[in-house]
Amino acid sequence: MNVYKTLALGAGLAGLLLSTAYADGLQGKVVGFSQIGSESGWRAAETSVTKSVAADLGIDLKFADAQQKQENQIKAIRGFIAQGVDAILVAPVVATGWEEVLTEAKEANIPVILLDRGIEGPEDLYLTSVASDQVKEGRVAGEWLVGTVGDKQCNVVELQGTVGSSPAINRKKGFEEGIAGHANLSIIRSQTGDFTRSKGKEVMEGFLKAEDGGKNICAVYAHNDDMAVGAIQAIKDAGLKPGSDILVVSIDAVPDIFAAMVAGEANATVELTPNMAGPAFQALDAYLNGGTAPEKFIITESKLYTPADDPQGEYDRRKGLGY
Ligand code: AHR
Repeated sequence: MNVYKTLALGAGLAGLLLSTAYADGLQGKVVGFSQIGSESGWRAAETSVTKSVAADLGIDLKFADAQQKQENQIKAIRGFIAQGVDAILVAPVVATGWEEVLTEAKEANIPVILLDRGIEGPEDLYLTSVASDQVKEGRVAGEWLVGTVGDKQCNVVELQGTVGSSPAINRKKGFEEGIAGHANLSIIRSQTGDFTRSKGKEVMEGFLKAEDGGKNICAVYAHNDDMAVGAIQAIKDAGLKPGSDILVVSIDAVPDIFAAMVAGEANATVELTPNMAGPAFQALDAYLNGGTAPEKFIITESKLYTPADDPQGEYDRRKGLGY
């Protein structure tokens, strides 16, 4: 099995660092990586996995942390272009505003690969996009809630991701699709928690206060696990039991959400693999060394986990992978 196949195993995080045969097609290549920041456990894992995979492949990875600011990402991309890197990876913080800088990369003949978030703009500005089906993630979360509450009346509060980011837009849409046609389920409040634990907690505190101390809330849907973990704390501080008084469903499958499941405080999560780099480097290798254009969209898996799926084992399997 080659390194890319090992890395492409969706949920196969355990195999991530265990590959034996290494491809050398990207040995010595210089790749710039404009990362959003470190807003969540998932983001930290993606950074750590990307650095580890690049090191295994002999890539000289130039890493730039944008601290959540698009202007920093644009500056970093321009810096990579000036350095004449062989390729650029970018995890775009928001979906719009990329045309100018990506056109500059294209004119410099530097292939760009989008990681984990999409952009609005011409598809010829990037070689490929490696990301999950974010609408599906939201839909899976919504369908899980429909199946769990049955006919019961259920008021849902929603913690959205970063305003203008593709996962916030798509996960909202997908969840609404998932609960569509079920009049007993309605989203009564929805606000951004910016994908962070602290804002997730703060916004949930506001929801609880506004909804009779939480008595009027049946479930919280968070666009990522970190916000869910923040919400869990807020629910406990309000004297209620997360996981039973208020159901908790979110996305990412980070170790902390499995720890919350073990404690009975979280009910479901949809996995987002932090290994976007494996498929991205595989596509880049084929392109640079064989001239093969990859699929425009490389879609990673979205698997639902609940307390029935060995949360302690999932926690153990993930901890130590950079989350
Ligand atoms: O783009 C992926 C999302 O970004 C993750 O779900 C979230 O945790 C991160 O901040």
